[in-house]
Amino acid sequence: MNAANASPLTARRSGALKGRIRVPGDKSISLRSLIFGALAVGETRITGMLEGEDAISTAKAMAALGATVERTGERAWRILGVGVGGFAEPRAPLDFGNSGTGCRLGMGAVAGSPIKATFDGDASLRSRPMRRILDPLEKMGARTLEIQDGGRLPVVMQGAAEPIPIEYEAPVPSAQLKSAVLLAGLAAPGTTTVIEKEATRDHTEKMLKHFGAKIHITHLGDHGRKIVLDGQPELEAAPVIVPADPSSASFPLIAALIVPGSDITLEGVMLNPLRTGLFKTLKEMGASIEALDQRNEGGEDVADLRVRAGALKGVDVPADRAPSMIDEYPVLAVAASFAEGTTRMRGLKELRVKESDRLEATAAMLRNNGVEVEIEGDDLIVHGKGRAPGGGLVATHMDHRIAMSALAMGLATEQPVTVDDAAFIATSFPGFADLMRGLGADYS
Ligand code: S3P
Repeated sequence: MNAANASPLTARRSGALKGRIRVPGDKSISLRSLIFGALAVGETRITGMLEGEDAISTAKAMAALGATVERTGERAWRILGVGVGGFAEPRAPLDFGNSGTGCRLGMGAVAGSPIKATFDGDASLRSRPMRRILDPLEKMGARTLEIQDGGRLPVVMQGAAEPIPIEYEAPVPSAQLKSAVLLAGLAAPGTTTVIEKEATRDHTEKMLKHFGAKIHITHLGDHGRKIVLDGQPELEAAPVIVPADPSSASFPLIAALIVPGSDITLEGVMLNPLRTGLFKTLKEMGASIEALDQRNEGGEDVADLRVRAGALKGVDVPADRAPSMIDEYPVLAVAASFAEGTTRMRGLKELRVKESDRLEATAAMLRNNGVEVEIEGDDLIVHGKGRAPGGGLVATHMDHRIAMSALAMGLATEQPVTVDDAAFIATSFPGFADLMRGLGADYS
């Protein structure tokens, strides 16, 4: 995908959204299941897999490293793994496209095999920092043979022949960083420890347990965690059921909150407590979200979410909530525009290093559509007026979540909202526009 084949899309004010949909499988779990499947011994069967471009590029990378990766049916995949430390040297650069998670977890997995591999991606991924991942992996014995200015891709890495276990205190709250260190730790003798001051999503820890590794987690204070992994386990293939992605669900959910008269149900949405900061915040804003038929799917709590439109009020979102809703701020900012009063979202530094500089991209999206917004340090402040004019063109900067946020917004603004390029939505939410049209969204 590049600027030459950009595909603009316009959202127009729509009638009430109605219906019942299931959004695609969770991206974090889908990508991990591919990587864990490739590292395990035996056959891993994945159902409910996200078949978006981020997953496809990660699947191709795992195949290039020697795993057998096959699609066996709709959202059903099968992986034959090579065992921890057993990756083969890939003949060509591993191209992770737009996927930071695929690339960074891939680096962790490769760091424990004695092979050389080149990591690359699209222009968005090439602009993102990789030093945060390579620093601990180098401590574990991997070597960075080539890297671009500013710690960017392409990166050539030599994995460790004899990986060294470390104790690592993460300098930033990042599940990708934590996961990379734990994946490398699988190949090291002894225990690898990651300390995080603020708990981030725990899908890697859960999947390690599910695949038979020994991992011990203790809470540190109110927000922190210490994760201790016993190295060199027999990682055994295990079936993975992928629940619906709460981050993807947030776009139809917020569209339904702001389009008057809407009443939709989102099926089987994962409610892992480390991912539900948005739902908590929306409830504080007065949103009507009911969790129906709460159950467990593949080791995660899920529920059908019934969402009804209604008045919202501005709130203060504390910084310590950021890790549990890190991908949801652009779309929360849309909800905040339609709320009455000011919403202050605190501590959003990490948003600057996502698929785009999401702090700037979100502010620009709102500003271009007549919403009053400010950035103060790492805080985003939206002055909600219960309505938004719209009429703007939104630059998506190769960022799927900016595109979907703008397209949710345009369903309720007075004038249409156009995104310059909707193509990147396919990285995490293939079929987004059609699924939304099925609810009554006017996209053309
Ligand atoms: C992810 C972690 C987060 C998140 C990303 C998915 C993961 O990134 O933004 O979409 O699956 O581990 P960081 O680790 O950079 O916070």
